[in-house]
Parts: sequence; structure tokens; C-alpha cells
Amino acid sequence: MIDWGQTRVVVTGGAGFLGRFVVEKLQARGAKDVIVPRSKEFDLVDGDAVRRLLAASKPHLVIHLAARVGGIGANRENPGRFFYENAMMGIQLLHESWKAGVNKFVACGTICAYPKFTPVPFREEEIWNGYPEETNAPYGIAKKVMSVQSEGYRAQYGFNSVVVYPVNLYGPGDNFDLQASHVIPAMLRKFHEAKLAKRAEVVLWGDGSPTREFFYVDDCAEGIVLAAERYDSSEPMNLGSGEEISIKALAEKVQSLVGYEGHLVWDPSKPNGQPRRRLDVSKSRALLGFQAAVDLDTGLRRTYDWMLTDASQR
Ligand SMILES: NC(=O)c1ccc[n+]([C@@H]2O[C@H](COP(=O)([O-])OP(=O)(O)OC[C@H]3O[C@@H](n4cnc5c(N)ncnc54)[C@H](OP(=O)(O)O)[C@@H]3O)[C@@H](O)[C@H]2O)c1
Repeated sequence: MIDWGQTRVVVTGGAGFLGRFVVEKLQARGAKDVIVPRSKEFDLVDGDAVRRLLAASKPHLVIHLAARVGGIGANRENPGRFFYENAMMGIQLLHESWKAGVNKFVACGTICAYPKFTPVPFREEEIWNGYPEETNAPYGIAKKVMSVQSEGYRAQYGFNSVVVYPVNLYGPGDNFDLQASHVIPAMLRKFHEAKLAKRAEVVLWGDGSPTREFFYVDDCAEGIVLAAERYDSSEPMNLGSGEEISIKALAEKVQSLVGYEGHLVWDPSKPNGQPRRRLDVSKSRALLGFQAAVDLDTGLRRTYDWMLTDASQR
């Protein structure tokens, strides 16, 4: 068990959507020394900045959450950037953490690492059995490279690193910018704006048939901190809610939550993304004792409330 009061932790991406919840959890467990490097001061794509960060902070534990992320649109427009930045950050941080004598390195992978046609529910053993869905392959592969590196460094140097694979996140603090947002904030914003403008219809991407699993951000943060406390293996570990819903059913839920009375129209000329997504979450349940606590209806309500408060403060 980690003695949090005596553990200096660097949380890369600790000021981001997920990162803020992780930092909160660490502080709630008694961690006093939590360092959150910002990209302006430490661009972690750059090896010198990675070395500078580790030399200045001398952490016992590194939780690596920093990433270049986005929805299908952002992934399609930036495949080169998403590959390069995520791969360079992960590879260099893990390598330099080992060299700097860090005790443990915990990194965040992504469900986008799984093959396009993984049997549902996705079991960790399937992660290498095929190429990911094309729109998010550069991002997904850049991140799963860390599992190979983790395995290699554990075998050769005895370095303790773990990579967890969370499913699609949502919650308060999510990115509501339509250029870069994921599906839930994009839907909440589209329906809300259409309601205010009394628009007759809302157009959504694809045909609504794909399924997704959504994972409340605070639950994910708990899973990551539990992995830091209880998991010491380079084998991938899924983190999710284990619940699957179609995009169509989600859209209807969001429409009713927002109270939009117009029509919902699907645009099948836009990509659907991966056909189905649901994780097998039995491993994290067995080894971490982890179970998601927030159901989708509660989480959506909290996210929408946050969006309304945030918009009123702008
Ligand atoms: N959101 C999801 O649905 C989801 C699902 C599965 C996995 N994940 C993983 O969860 C982690 C966190 O994602 P998020 O949604 O919280 O993203 P986010 O809100 O965009 O936060 C990412 C953070 O990464 C930092 N960052 C980006 N580029 C950097 C660079 N070159 N140098 C240093 N820091 C950099 C940013 O720091 P600054 O603010 O200082 O610029 C930012 O705060 C990522 O590893 C992502 O792959 C997310």
C-alpha cells in the first residue's frame, strides 16, 4: 500500500478534464506533494522538458495522463499530430522515469487502442488482435506502444509501470468545444443551443447505430488511483462501467434531459466510428476491487448542470 503522505507524485495532464479528478483523489488520500506540470512550461513532447521536469520534481510516482485528445473530427484532421505527440510523450516519460529512479509509473491508455472488430465485451487479451478503427488508429496505437515498453522495461530493468485502458469518459469539466469535443458534450451542447434558438431540427453524425460505453470521469479517476495502489503488472487493464448504449438511445436520453422538442436527424455521410464498444471490466473488479459508482442518467444530469453553470459564468 502506498503511504500517500510520504509520496511525491507528478500528474502529467493533471490540469485536464480527467487530471483534475485524479489530483483531487490523491489529495483526499493525504498526498501533500502533487506536482502538475503545465504544457506551457514543460512541453512533454520534448525530451529535454521531460528530463527537466523529473530533475526538478524528483517524484516517487508518475501518473501520466497528458495527451493530445479529441473526438472523431479532431482525430481525422490531426492523425499525424495525434500519433507523434502521444507516442513521444509516453515513450520519453516512461524511459526517463525509469532512468530517474521513479518507483512506479502509471499511464493512461485508451479504448481506441482496441481492434476495430474486437468481440464484445472487449477483453484485455484482444488488444493486439487487429488494427484499430481507422479514424482513431494513430491515437490508439501511439498509446498502446506504452504497454510494449512497460513489458520490456519490467523484463529488462525491473521497472514497475502499468498502463490502464479507460473507455469513453464524460462528466463535469469536459470539453464542450464542438471542434474537439467527444459525443456527450457535443450532444448536450447541440440540443441545448437548438432549444434556445427554437431550431426545428438537430443533425447528428452517422446513423445512430454504433454502441458505446460511457464512464463517469470521477469513477475513472478512482480506478487510476487504485491501479497506482494495487496493480503491479504490465498486462493491460480495462477501466469502465461495463454498460453499453447505442448512440441513438443516448441521443434520445440527452434530448429528453435537455427538453428539446424538435426533430433529431442523422447524417449518414459522416463517420460512425467503431461499430460497438463495451469493455470486459472483470479484471479491474477482481484485482482492484473497482466498480463504477455513477450511472449514466446521474452522470448526464451532473454534466448538463455543469455545462449550464459554466456557460452562465462565461
Ligand atoms: N476523455 C476521454 O474520453 C478519454 C478516454 C480514454 C482515455 N483518456 C485518456 O485520459 C487522459 C486525459 O484525457 P483528458 O480527456 O483529460 O484530456 P484533456 O482534458 O485534453 O487533458 C490533457 C492534458 O494533457 C496536457 N498536455 C497535452 N499536450 C501536452 C504536452 N505536449 N506537454 C504537456 N502536457 C500536455 C494538457 O495540459 P495543459 O492544460 O497544461 O496544456 C491537458 O491538460 C489522456 O491520456 C487520454 O488519452 C481519455
